[in-house]
Amino acid sequence: MQKAKLAILASGRGSNAVALIQASKSADFPAEVALVLSDNRDAPVLKKAEELGVKALYLDPGPKRSYLIPEVEASWIQALQENDVDYVLLAGFMRLLKRTFLEAFPLRVLNIHPALLPSFRGLDAQQQAWEYGVRYSGATVHFVDSSLDAGPIILQEPVKVLPDDTPQSLADRILEAEHRIYPEAVRLLCQGRLRIEGRRVKILREWNSKEAHGK
Ligand code: GAR
Repeated sequence: MQKAKLAILASGRGSNAVALIQASKSADFPAEVALVLSDNRDAPVLKKAEELGVKALYLDPGPKRSYLIPEVEASWIQALQENDVDYVLLAGFMRLLKRTFLEAFPLRVLNIHPALLPSFRGLDAQQQAWEYGVRYSGATVHFVDSSLDAGPIILQEPVKVLPDDTPQSLADRILEAEHRIYPEAVRLLCQGRLRIEGRRVKILREWNSKEAHGK
């Protein structure tokens, strides 16, 4: 079986990237991490990926703080295509991807978000949930579309908010859930077991070679 090739885009610490790389090292995982890209020259994720034997590059994010302008998106796409990447995984990547990018990887870009979407989109989702006073928050893996944290949902894991929680202790437990569901969602994706029907994502029971990582 040929493994799908993954790229991870990350801006910071890189714990999800590490969880994905470690999962991909198991013999029965249907994908390998070919590349880690960061928009932040000093992101710890770059060093962590290299230590795990994965190629890691800083790429210039251009002039805007919250997104990549089309010319810059084109250079990021080129780097991904040169490395034969099938799927792109956002893991704490703090910029919006726009049309040029999403059209280059249609339904092939995933994101992890530290809340039960559609609640608490955007930044500091764990703090937002804690301040709101919800009894449960959690983590969501979803397909990326052009709106913020809003594409079809693949997996979610709820996390109970405890009476003594701080935003940090809640975030720590949500992160553990993220590390469980992100590799699992990628496994399903690369086995061709996800079928998008409108907003709903159906999980097929059987490996489906037709829907698995064809270019
Ligand atoms: C994770 O909690 C991830 O869910 C979040 O950033 C953190 C990155 O941590 N992403 C977002 O908030 C995106 N909206 P990591 O670098 O240790 O994986």
